Amino acid sequence: MKAAIIVFSPTGNTLKVGQMLEKQLISRNFDVQLYNFTGNDMIFRNDNMKSFLRENIKEHDLLCIGSPVYAHHLHYNVKNIIKALPKPENGWARLAVPFVTYGAINSGVALHEAANLLKKSGRITILSMKINAFHCMTALPQINIKINEGMPGEEALPTIEELADKIVQFNYGVINKSKDITKKLNYQKLKNRMKAKIIFREKFWHNYLYPKLIFNHDLCQKCERCIDICPVNCIEMTDDGPILLDKPFCIHCVACILECQFNAINVNTNWTRLNNMLENAMNGRGPLVSNENPKSYVYS
Ligand SMILES: Cc1cc2nc3c(=O)[nH]c(=O)nc-3n(C[C@H](O)[C@H](O)[C@H](O)COP(=O)(O)O)c2cc1C
Repeated sequence: MKAAIIVFSPTGNTLKVGQMLEKQLISRNFDVQLYNFTGNDMIFRNDNMKSFLRENIKEHDLLCIGSPVYAHHLHYNVKNIIKALPKPENGWARLAVPFVTYGAINSGVALHEAANLLKKSGRITILSMKINAFHCMTALPQINIKINEGMPGEEALPTIEELADKIVQFNYGVINKSKDITKKLNYQKLKNRMKAKIIFREKFWHNYLYPKLIFNHDLCQKCERCIDICPVNCIEMTDDGPILLDKPFCIHCVACILECQFNAINVNTNWTRLNNMLENAMNGRGPLVSNENPKSYVYS
């Protein structure tokens, strides 16, 4: 059997899960192509996405697609990839397995959104998985609490093995009778679904709430590592130092801040408030949490 795994992974957690799944499927005699969209200009250029996908994704029987959860949603760059998927014919599989990684707080409506979009593209979501991972924002030195540091690691393996086993058990001969599990992925309580719809929208947060990046040109050594690491290529070098482009816009993944060796990048925010929000969330309180359990899970 042939599987394609497509991922977008600004700070590497989703890619790691994709690689672990790739390994598990290969050990079960699958022929696997893992395609990483991180840093690829195509994710924000709508013009040629479909033909790009056609040219770069090989023939497959199963399509797995991985995304981080941002502001309780499937990352909008992954939504754009799914929207551009060619019809499930001529080597493009009808069967799909969306998966997400998230930072313990709330997986939101991400998997449900993925399955709905896959359905619109003519696909059937047969299995799905969420993995509890390091909350990348908490890697910032100003954040006191480190949520799930080092994850995903060995602890994620049983869940990923379970998914791989269930993929193997799937009878590819009866595609037309395959059960779509989209409804099962609508697992959040109504309150959480409403919050995701009304309050937690990444583009809204980007425009009005998320703190903006600040470059300190006095500290910058123009090593360009921030430019190389940016998953959406939104940093450009000028004579004075790096600047943020208006388009594609910054997705607030913090990868550049963590990469900078000279502390030349930061965000301007109320650290006390952010620390309180995250600490409350980890104690199951406040507006961010869903308190879902188990945090890593295979839906089948
Ligand atoms: C801007 C932003 C928003 C996030 N929103 C959520 C969220 O709503 N719920 C959650 O549990 N984790 C959230 N996270 C944490 C990421 O989902 C988590 O770290 C994920 O594993 C990152 O995947 P990646 O390493 O593949 O980029 C957010 C992280 C960032 C940077």
